[in-house]
Amino acid sequence: MHSLLRHLHGNDDHVHADTAPQTTGTLIHWAKRYDFIVQFMAFGQARRLRRKSIDAAQIKPGERILDVGCGTGDLTLLAKERAGSTGQVYGIDAATEMIDVARGKAARAKAEVDFRVSVIEQLPFPAESFDVVLSSLMMHHLPDDLKPKALAEVRRVIKPGGRLLLVDFKGQIEKQGVMALVKEAGFAQVEMRSLWFNTLGVIRAA
Ligand SMILES: C[S@@+](CC[C@H](N)C(=O)[O-])C[C@H]1O[C@@H](n2cnc3c(N)ncnc32)[C@H](O)[C@@H]1O
Repeated sequence: MHSLLRHLHGNDDHVHADTAPQTTGTLIHWAKRYDFIVQFMAFGQARRLRRKSIDAAQIKPGERILDVGCGTGDLTLLAKERAGSTGQVYGIDAATEMIDVARGKAARAKAEVDFRVSVIEQLPFPAESFDVVLSSLMMHHLPDDLKPKALAEVRRVIKPGGRLLLVDFKGQIEKQGVMALVKEAGFAQVEMRSLWFNTLGVIRAA
């Protein structure tokens, strides 16, 4: 009975719940077309863009990684390549359709990545679980009043000495004051550089 309750309440690190709590974030349900649209917007260079993003995270073999708002999982799967067989990699997204596509890719690649339907503002992980949290093109999907809560959750699950790698449209980062919000969430070192012809900003925070 105890294990059944733990299962239902999602305390177990390995539980897969396929419905997410309600969120005011903007979800993407057109998961099957998502990669095509990204490829189009990146002028056919999506793979290269992903590699540049993951390079910035400087992932080492054996690290524990969480990708929040992972979408169809391309960056998450690259993180797994970098973290290697001893690394543990998780991806969460609030859209079931996105997680379905991501799980399909992981199965085809025989990559052990734990993809879950979940929301950033209520992460199903204990405190200090991850060396690295990745957030790619997702911050602008959260309304302003949700961003501080989401970043506080990210801070909570990062181990002491761990880091956040946040990629988003540079204009949105500046307009929405994301650097200041990251600092307010408790990160001491926060720096941003430009990526992809100055259209993207990459925030590294520790
Ligand atoms: C533009 S996509 C980015 C996907 C992926 N990270 C990438 O780089 O392509 C933003 C994602 O955030 C998800 N999302 C929106 N609000 C969310 C929330 N509160 N918690 C988790 N995911 C959320 C959406 O469903 C969508 O898949």
